[in-house]
Amino acid sequence: MEKLAEKLKSRSFVFFGGKGGTGKTTCAAAFALRASRDGRKTLIASTDPAHSLSDIFGVAIGPKERPISHGLYGIEIDPEEEAKKYITRVKEQMQGVVSSVIIQEIERQIDAAYLSPGSEEAATFDKFVELMDEAGNPYDLIVFDTAPTGHTLRLLTLPEILGAWMDSLIARRSRAVKLLRMTSSGPKDDPIIKVLEKRKTSFEKARAILTDRSITSFVFVINAEKLPVAETAKALSLLRKYGIAAEGIVINKVIPPEAGGLLEKRRAIQEKYLAEARTKFSDLWIAEIPLLDSDVDGIEGLLRVAAFL
Ligand SMILES: Nc1ncnc2c1ncn2[C@@H]1O[C@H](COP(=O)(O)OP(=O)(O)OP(=O)(O)O)[C@@H](O)[C@H]1O
Ligand SMILES: [Mg+2]
Repeated sequence: MEKLAEKLKSRSFVFFGGKGGTGKTTCAAAFALRASRDGRKTLIASTDPAHSLSDIFGVAIGPKERPISHGLYGIEIDPEEEAKKYITRVKEQMQGVVSSVIIQEIERQIDAAYLSPGSEEAATFDKFVELMDEAGNPYDLIVFDTAPTGHTLRLLTLPEILGAWMDSLIARRSRAVKLLRMTSSGPKDDPIIKVLEKRKTSFEKARAILTDRSITSFVFVINAEKLPVAETAKALSLLRKYGIAAEGIVINKVIPPEAGGLLEKRRAIQEKYLAEARTKFSDLWIAEIPLLDSDVDGIEGLLRVAAFL
């Protein structure tokens, strides 16, 4: 049977998601390491505010891309930091193009937006767009280690929401421009509208990339338990609704038959959910990783996991 990693070989962006503690970081890191060993220049990017890439690779990874091992690079995106930069950037774009009274008004609006829920995700998303922008992207593959499901789904469905929000801002601004006749030629030449349109275009671009199944794919990492199986089915349909291809499932920490002893009973329980997952997700590419005798870290440990992907 062809392996999951083999199936995903032609993808440029692969997201790993799933419930907390299932093994997202481990699988994303193993997948990225394997790809880099196969000669693809690879970046592993963590979008989980509680980063753990540094721990797993044993090197300090921060908000700037840095090499981890040959052909493999890492970055930990800090949502709060990105949100601050994002706000500053938007404000700067406004400077010098509009009067100071308007700037104050806009800054108030932006600050309000910054405090509103979702702005850190919006900023993280901006960083996504930056990383995924083909013009500046030197990588063959970017692997995203994401936060537990809910957070990530919100993030991935943002372009749609932000697009609508941009539209409403543009409409509001257009009305004001027309009303006040602020420019001789109307809303088209209004600098604020230009900035908004530009942002809208970049979100649309992100959406185009995210929903292009020939380049972007989503892999769920689950354990053979009741809740993850149920939750994943729901998350899958949500992603599909937004046009994002969810093609792979990793069933991690599967207790091997020879485990014996105390684990035997748990194995029997897992069997049930394993069977359920195999049927429920039979249209996806499935990989199974056994429960290993120790935590996974370092290159050796990750390559051991990668062999199952
Ligand atoms: N197959 C496995 N066998 C044994 N231990 C494993 C296996 N896969 C992962 N682990 C261990 O399980 C723990 C959780 O894994 P990991 O950090 O990858 O999960 P996560 O889904 O990223 O968690 P979080 O939601 O907190 O980000 C780690 O200590 C890891 O070493
Ligand atoms: Mg993690």
